[in-house]
Amino acid sequence: MQLNSHNAWGNIDLYKQLYNDIKKNQEAFWMEQIKDITWIQKPTKILDNNTWFKDGIASVCYNCVDRHAQSNQDKPAIIWHGDEYCERTQTSYQDLKNRIIQIATALKQHDIKKGDVVGIYMPMLPDAIASMLACSRICAIHMVVFAGFSHEALSQRLKHSNAKIIITVTQQKRGGRTINLIEQVQKATKSLQIPILNLDELKTKVDDTNDQITYQTDQDELFHIYTSGSTGTPKKITHTAIPYLIYAATTFKYIFDIKPNDIYFCTSDIGWITGHSYITYAPLFHGLTTVIFSGSPTYPEADRYWDIIEKEKVTIFYTAPTAIRSLQMFDEKLIKQHDISSLRILGSVGEPLNESAWNWMFNKIGKQRCPIMNTWWQTETGGIMISPLLNLEQNKTRAGLPFFGIDITIEDQNGKPIEEPNNQGMLKIKSKWPGMCKNIQFKNKEYSTGDGSYYDEHGHIKITGRLDDVINISGHRLGTAEFESAINLTDNVIESAVIGIPHELKGQTAFAFVVAKQHIEEQQTVQQILNNTRKNIGPIAKPDYVLFVNELPKNRSGKINRKLLTKIYKNEPINSSDTHTLINPDIINHIQKKIKEAIFCPDICRIKANKNP
Ligand code: WT7
Repeated sequence: MQLNSHNAWGNIDLYKQLYNDIKKNQEAFWMEQIKDITWIQKPTKILDNNTWFKDGIASVCYNCVDRHAQSNQDKPAIIWHGDEYCERTQTSYQDLKNRIIQIATALKQHDIKKGDVVGIYMPMLPDAIASMLACSRICAIHMVVFAGFSHEALSQRLKHSNAKIIITVTQQKRGGRTINLIEQVQKATKSLQIPILNLDELKTKVDDTNDQITYQTDQDELFHIYTSGSTGTPKKITHTAIPYLIYAATTFKYIFDIKPNDIYFCTSDIGWITGHSYITYAPLFHGLTTVIFSGSPTYPEADRYWDIIEKEKVTIFYTAPTAIRSLQMFDEKLIKQHDISSLRILGSVGEPLNESAWNWMFNKIGKQRCPIMNTWWQTETGGIMISPLLNLEQNKTRAGLPFFGIDITIEDQNGKPIEEPNNQGMLKIKSKWPGMCKNIQFKNKEYSTGDGSYYDEHGHIKITGRLDDVINISGHRLGTAEFESAINLTDNVIESAVIGIPHELKGQTAFAFVVAKQHIEEQQTVQQILNNTRKNIGPIAKPDYVLFVNELPKNRSGKINRKLLTKIYKNEPINSSDTHTLINPDIINHIQKKIKEAIFCPDICRIKANKNP
């Protein structure tokens, strides 16, 4: 198997041949890939039941930092841009290593040991990446919480994960506003009695006398991360250290066709899995320079991304459809005033990349030269599972192919594989892969992704979005049940049902059907609902519409039929197969009549679009 040539992800014939070869012998492929790792002890087996790289011993931190600090100490590991144009720092691999040792030492002084969970609540600063790597250096497990989440959400996650300490900084500056983080952390930890490590106060000289790497073995965990599922409480995803790292690094190498001098800029946040796999671990593993940005893409002007790309000569730019859609509205001159010709490859992740966003990205950002890697994956999968090829002609089909070793199937409601094109079903995964989370659930030897998808005429995969009770607002994954539990905390609210509806900018937004006590002040109740979703989940979790109804459609066991509510919202005809399981079919007519009376809740901070028409 000859895979040294990176254009394995560029040529359809080569891809097909490699894909089929690897399907027959996945182990040989991974055997080749693990040569990229500096091992303390090489694994004796590639896959043993659910265990990858059994008996392998290595350090994630050593592989991402120390070895590059040895061979290339002055190379920038992280370039950071802040809220204002002039704010920039550069952290070399040696600087990064020093800072990691400081943080690891501080953690050890707080008695943090192998297997302990460390909370991280940080803006996109180099110290956020250093904190994650410091945990990995001592084999502690990091649990990053997005700094945009409320202190209640933080507290819930710290408690659930049994975190022993929380790392933060004093404040965050974004979009011209200053947010007091330490205060949020103090509130979140009030009842938990866990110490706070404020990195702004950690300025001691590097004392590396006690620095010691704790190596990781096949089953050791690297991090926990909470995401949304179909229940009201966030779901904990656990990733391994070494197998996860190998999967993230290998997908990154092929799909972004990386070269040693690439300057890589990903606009995600370490609060999400993308920030773990493709801002921190994969780029640093390969010794690249990772560019991070803690500001807002539209502040002070909506050219921040283009400005950073020009200044740093970024070659690979990985972003999200929601960011593209919000920038599309601005005057094109904001792009034209920057030389962004260093770009080679573009990427998108998080939600379906609609046609208009794809075209805009392809024409205005990539100037028709750069392929768009519209990568599909999930928190559970650890790394990219499906992506289009790099070849420009292939890329224009805008459909993806499974990564090497990933065996997918699209099935109808009865579990029957759908082979004919343009016929939607549920995307499932039949193989195991090193990046799969430890708590993944295979049913009948298949992992159900929750996403709808279909094959196009060429047999390439198109993803249509979630089919389950999960909605995707601006790339943020939120469970309808989470929304509902927050809404139901409101006085006078009896119960609620939330559905996802299309939204021009955010991809999807939430529409809430609410049953409240009689004779309430509706506007006031809506305000309380908004306060509750904001307080319990965060500002991103805001329903755009609230409709008060007398009852919700339910089946005999009391389960709310959200699919029916979606049909009513879309004004689709309702037939008896939709209603025969309902205990209260009469309610449909009532909701249909009222649907136009939904109360609109505008976003508080709107981006200033197209100021100069
Ligand atoms: C869900 C996973 C993986 C990092 C970011 C999101 C949706 C993700 C795409 C894409 C269409 C996509 C899916 C998936 N999604 N990428 N390229 N096209 N949909 O991770 O929060 O775990 O969400 O995001 O619905 O299931 P996540």
